[in-house]
Amino acid sequence: MTLKKICCVGAGYVGGPTCTVIASKCPQLTVTVVDLSETRIAQWNSENLPIFEPGLYDLVKECRGRNLFFSTNVKEAIVEADLIFICVNTPTKHFGKGKGRAADLKYIESAARMIAEVSQNSKIVVEKSTVPVKAAESITNIMRANIKPGVQYQVLSNPEFLAEGTAVNDLIYPDRVLIGGDPSPLGQEAIQSLRWIYEHWVPQDKIITMNTWSSELSKLAANAFLAQRISSINAMSAICEMTGADVSEVANAVGRDTRIGNKFLKASVGFGGFSGFGGSCFQKDVLNLVYLCECLNLPEVAEYWQQVININDYQRRRFANKIIESLFNTVTNKKIAIFGFAFKKDTGDTRESAAIYVSKYLMEEGACLRIYDPKVEEAQLMSELTQPSITDDPDKVKELVTICKDPYQAAQNAHAVVICTEWDEFIALDYQGIYKSMLKPAFLFDGRLILKHQELLDIGFHVVTIGKKLQRSNVHRPIATSLQ
Ligand code: NAI
Repeated sequence: MTLKKICCVGAGYVGGPTCTVIASKCPQLTVTVVDLSETRIAQWNSENLPIFEPGLYDLVKECRGRNLFFSTNVKEAIVEADLIFICVNTPTKHFGKGKGRAADLKYIESAARMIAEVSQNSKIVVEKSTVPVKAAESITNIMRANIKPGVQYQVLSNPEFLAEGTAVNDLIYPDRVLIGGDPSPLGQEAIQSLRWIYEHWVPQDKIITMNTWSSELSKLAANAFLAQRISSINAMSAICEMTGADVSEVANAVGRDTRIGNKFLKASVGFGGFSGFGGSCFQKDVLNLVYLCECLNLPEVAEYWQQVININDYQRRRFANKIIESLFNTVTNKKIAIFGFAFKKDTGDTRESAAIYVSKYLMEEGACLRIYDPKVEEAQLMSELTQPSITDDPDKVKELVTICKDPYQAAQNAHAVVICTEWDEFIALDYQGIYKSMLKPAFLFDGRLILKHQELLDIGFHVVTIGKKLQRSNVHRPIATSLQ
């Protein structure tokens, strides 16, 4: 099939950047990204894009109005397209069967039904959202049950591996592109059509084709392996704190083994927020895998992956407990500055951010939070902290939380500063000035291991971090209490 027009259903963190890169690399294609949300589409058509990604705005400006369009006219874009990417959200179900674990496929289903309802000619439908194994089969069944005469669908799996914060770079230089499809001649033809798009900029050997189920499972498996590495090093960090070992030194030593490698071995306050790589999906994708294993009657396998989640929950809770214990076992009415709310640096995304859980635990103890993040809007932040899974008293949250315009304002008169996101700007702050403006003893909790701890100790801070016990070298400093 010669492709001329493609459409992407879902203008989010995946749909927007992916289609912008396709439009930029394939100028002969007309790419239309559609979404039900008028606000989101209006933002994509404005100077103020709905998501922050380094390099994205320039690419959008280059292509928008030329061969890249953002629209709420979902039906028209589907009717005209030869190939349709489904990039809708697949959050964890909050109610019903599989609550708290299974992926909610209602947005996928409604996109599939819409495609079947309006299409007047044959289409290639590409499942880019992360889904449980066999979702492509369900999409096919829905569409074939509603098929119009003369119309055919080929459903492909093409999971996305971009990480937020580095999305444009990841899309332009992917480690690999997976395309899963049906072994039939029509399925193979569809695979070749999608492959042709990627071949405009991705080397041939990085484009891997396989059966649909392998492709669907590979995405869940990759995220589960990455999350497992984080939970493994975080489990080590707890041992380090009890023994005097330093988790950074252990990670360095372990990572030198070429069979293990040095990436993704940084201890922190937990995934869904950890240094370096993307993570808003980790929690939901591992839960999705656990649920899949349970449905397949593989309880031992389910339990194995569940432990990866359990350690992550434990790490967040442990970090919040350290804050409370260090502040003399009570944070009630104490001002605590939270530096960073996004789940990692260089993104405004807050989904499953560690900051949400640390804030939750501190608010449960009555702490007054002063939160600063360079990219997260106030409305977004408050909506995260007032969701039912975080609080049953949204008014109390509004009372306890103050959003600050800069980190210095957040730290003014605070008992403690807590680093929750590894934004570069936090490394270069005037900590001497911050220390002076805080109540004493002044505590600093580095949940991302990004600061120069000795310098902070020398200023006079009580510094608590993850995976390492810090000792003051200068005994003449004014504060006498031990660090923990
Ligand atoms: P998102 O929530 O940012 O965007 C999804 C968009 O789809 C929303 O704007 C929503 O309004 C729209 N939508 C939902 N149903 C629709 C419909 N029927 N018609 C038109 N628009 C509809 O989600 P995000 O982050 O882009 O994720 C999409 C998928 O990609 C998920 O399955 C996710 O797991 C996966 N993924 C996400 C990555 C990330 O870093 N965010 C990385 C790799 C995969």
